[in-house]
Amino acid sequence: MSKMITVSENNVFSLTNSKFSYVFMASPEGVMQHIHYGGPLREPLKASVHHLRTQRETASTYQGGQYFSLSDTPQEYPSFGTSDYRFPALHGRNSDGNTVYSLEYFGYEIVKKKPRLKKMPTARGGKSETLIITLKDPLHKLTVELYYTIYEDYGVLVRAAKMKNEGDKELQLQHAFSSALDLPPQDYEIIHMHGTWSREFNVERIDVPKGRFVVDSARGTSSAAHNPFLALVQKGTTEDYGRVYATTLIYSGNFALSVEKGEFEDVRLLAGINPFNFHWRLKPGKTFCTPEALHVYADKGLRSMSHQWHDFVRDKISPKQFRHVPRPTYLNTWEAAYFDVDEDKVLHLADKAKDIGVDMLVLDDGWFEGRRDDTSSLGDWIADGARFPSGIPALAAKVKAKGLKFGIWFEPEMVNPKSQLFENHPDWILHVPGRKPSLGRNQLTLDLSRPEVIDYLFGQIDDILSCGDIDYVKWDMNRNMTEVGSAALPKNRQREVSHRYILGLYDLLRRLTAKYPTVLFENCASGGNRFDLGMLSYMAQGWTSDMCDPIGRLEIINGCSYLYPLDVTAAYIGPSPNHQNGRISSIETRFMAGVFCAARGVSLNESDIDTHKEELQSLMKFAKASAANMVGGRFDRLIKNKNEVCWQYTTRDERTVYLAYFHKLSAPNLPFRRARLCGLDQDRDYMLVEDGSYYGGDALMQSGMPLPYVSTGHVRESVRYMPKGDFSAYLFEFRRHEG
Ligand code: GLA
Repeated sequence: MSKMITVSENNVFSLTNSKFSYVFMASPEGVMQHIHYGGPLREPLKASVHHLRTQRETASTYQGGQYFSLSDTPQEYPSFGTSDYRFPALHGRNSDGNTVYSLEYFGYEIVKKKPRLKKMPTARGGKSETLIITLKDPLHKLTVELYYTIYEDYGVLVRAAKMKNEGDKELQLQHAFSSALDLPPQDYEIIHMHGTWSREFNVERIDVPKGRFVVDSARGTSSAAHNPFLALVQKGTTEDYGRVYATTLIYSGNFALSVEKGEFEDVRLLAGINPFNFHWRLKPGKTFCTPEALHVYADKGLRSMSHQWHDFVRDKISPKQFRHVPRPTYLNTWEAAYFDVDEDKVLHLADKAKDIGVDMLVLDDGWFEGRRDDTSSLGDWIADGARFPSGIPALAAKVKAKGLKFGIWFEPEMVNPKSQLFENHPDWILHVPGRKPSLGRNQLTLDLSRPEVIDYLFGQIDDILSCGDIDYVKWDMNRNMTEVGSAALPKNRQREVSHRYILGLYDLLRRLTAKYPTVLFENCASGGNRFDLGMLSYMAQGWTSDMCDPIGRLEIINGCSYLYPLDVTAAYIGPSPNHQNGRISSIETRFMAGVFCAARGVSLNESDIDTHKEELQSLMKFAKASAANMVGGRFDRLIKNKNEVCWQYTTRDERTVYLAYFHKLSAPNLPFRRARLCGLDQDRDYMLVEDGSYYGGDALMQSGMPLPYVSTGHVRESVRYMPKGDFSAYLFEFRRHEG
């Protein structure tokens, strides 16, 4: 393995592979000063320092030194109070009670084995090197280790920080960011993803303003309001042009990604736990680890950024036993029957599932004791005696005897006030003294910072999974947290509860997924309210949204694909009119919106299934046959405008190329459109499966594929048409000529 980390005698550090160089140094004063992040450099240790030292009126100078102010110095891990006025990576109360920490370079270490963080998921190692920089505040005996991991084959840089109190007095942390990135002045834009229930993953793009712009969460989950993703892009960046610096976190709780353009126009990006409402007491001898922050540098626009994320997420984050494993097609009971489920109905639906050729029956919400609507029973994870008299293990065995897999829904982190669990343990919920807890969907949040709650949940879920016939678990979480307090922690640790909750959740997930490594877990939080790399470290796929109307779903998949490979997504054909927005659309378009998701299925009632049986059979046949192709391939966004979307999916072996074209509202007399494909072999031909015609790879990329004509319907044999009307979709399948 080539040496990716190099260090000069005067403490310049470089992390360089074929995709990027990241260079910084210890200044003569001991401040970690950032030098370069961008394309790979031939001689990174010689990169020029772009920070010039000069006199600035009114600038405070660091420790009284001449011409050296931290307010214009790009830094690796800034703190506050020693001449830098920007939002700091480290902040909190020190052993004297004030907030002035000052970190000085102490030493470094390079390790081949990627370090893991205590109690938190981390990116896997392999062909990687990690640089650990040790900084110390000698006055307050705080040691901070900065971790930088670089991989031979990926454009992702992994960062984290670890704080250790080496003194004999308590320290407190308020800002404990995972990484800070100070980029030189340039015209950057910010791209981020915002949303809400059923409208997740909207992409917003804005100029970097002067001042500070933050996406964050204080809801207890990473949340649909802002997915933990932010990219700084060179102004004018498109899908295939422009420099991109993108960031995310392996974290599922309250996070913050903040961008600050200071008085001297350099841009600071901070990534980590949200400092708002966070406070951690660091007792003597104790350490605190931040979650990992991931950074991508890409120089060929947003597509190249997404390719780097996708490769990394599937290879280094997502559970490795599911990497490149085709996902079963499925029938989910939710929009087929909602809470009105019983054993007979499930077995009937299983027969229907068999009829249309899907692989798995998923029993969603409604199966446990007394659960007939969303007002009761969360917390009591035993089958409802009246409706499921033989119990879940027997039902699972019956479904499996029909030749199907069996999956089941849980919402383990919640409890309804109307439940046995709440009656027995009213203290096990997040709450604060003297305040009536707010409800969300009639439910309360269990206090996962308490180990006994984790043990209880492990026991309840284990009881069901241990029957051995459960192939899949949908893990739901349907409210934002309020009155976040724990009866098990002292008053001065209440602001640790949100983070401790996430550590408890990770502990539970680690224990369950370690005991049941072959069970496919799907992450859900009212759809995409906690869709992040923390959850995806334990669960091979996620439910991006409850929005299954295809037009709504297109936007969601488009945004989601900026960071997440479609390997980790699921989609199903829901009812029409859609239950969320009332839109009427064809079965085919409903399927097509999720055509490139790894897990594809159906959630329709028996009569809808009967009415559309043949169509469903043919779509599920395609889904099953192509399942192996829908993992590990390359997804490209080709066209997206108000009325059209066009995506390309190239299989892992590059032999099959799909092109999905969507047209929203029809109109007369539209122009002839084409899509330029990308990443094909320009020297080979590709056969269009539907008619056996051949197209050159070069022609498909340079000249483009003529898209079906919209709106008039089929009138001439020689012209390819979209289905007539609104919300139409078309799928091309090309096979590479191997001669
Ligand atoms: C959430 C999920 C849905 C479904 C319901 C069940 O809303 O996102 O898919 O599982 O809960 O209550």
